[in-house]
Amino acid sequence: MKIKDKEFEVLITAEELNQKIKILAEGINADYKGKNPLFIAILNGSFMFAADLMKEIEVECGISFIKLSSYQEMTSTGSVTELIGLNENIFKRDVVIIEDIIDTGGTMVSVLDEFRERGVSSVEVVTLLLKPTALQNNIDIKYLGFEIPDVFVVGYGLDYDGLGRNTKAIYQIKS
Ligand code: IMP
Ligand code: MG
Repeated sequence: MKIKDKEFEVLITAEELNQKIKILAEGINADYKGKNPLFIAILNGSFMFAADLMKEIEVECGISFIKLSSYQEMTSTGSVTELIGLNENIFKRDVVIIEDIIDTGGTMVSVLDEFRERGVSSVEVVTLLLKPTALQNNIDIKYLGFEIPDVFVVGYGLDYDGLGRNTKAIYQIKS
């Protein structure tokens, strides 16, 4: 597959993704039986994973979507992220964050901090992908799809410069 100037090859097939999503959902269904979790998916990258995962969730639950906009603040702290779109009251809720990929972990740490500040009853993370060698933060990931090498990936929601989100498989950049 070619996107702009870059060539990509399949890393995880659609079948492997579907299988893994069923396994992740089984775990969540068992753990949240009788509870009423609120799933919060981080846009844009997780939209496809969130949709497929939610089809396999059988407990009573809600789903909401947030976005992170990073902007440069004119102070010494540098880049700051702002969480937008969280209209739900998450106080005392059992929240499950849905993410496509955890790379350095910076995004997830700021989301977790914000949710804890807002007084969630519990918060867990489900991420489809993790790059363990890129991870710079200590994050407790309860539900993990695949560990992948520190390579750039696209597809199944993930983009390269805004393109390539609309595929059934996940592709890695060809070196
Ligand atoms: P982190 O804050 O460094 O963990 O980065 C997480 C975000 O970076 C993800 O939500 C993705 O949007 C993006 N990202 C990280 N690695 C990749 C990649 O290989 N392909 C596409 N997006 C990526
Ligand atoms: Mg993302």
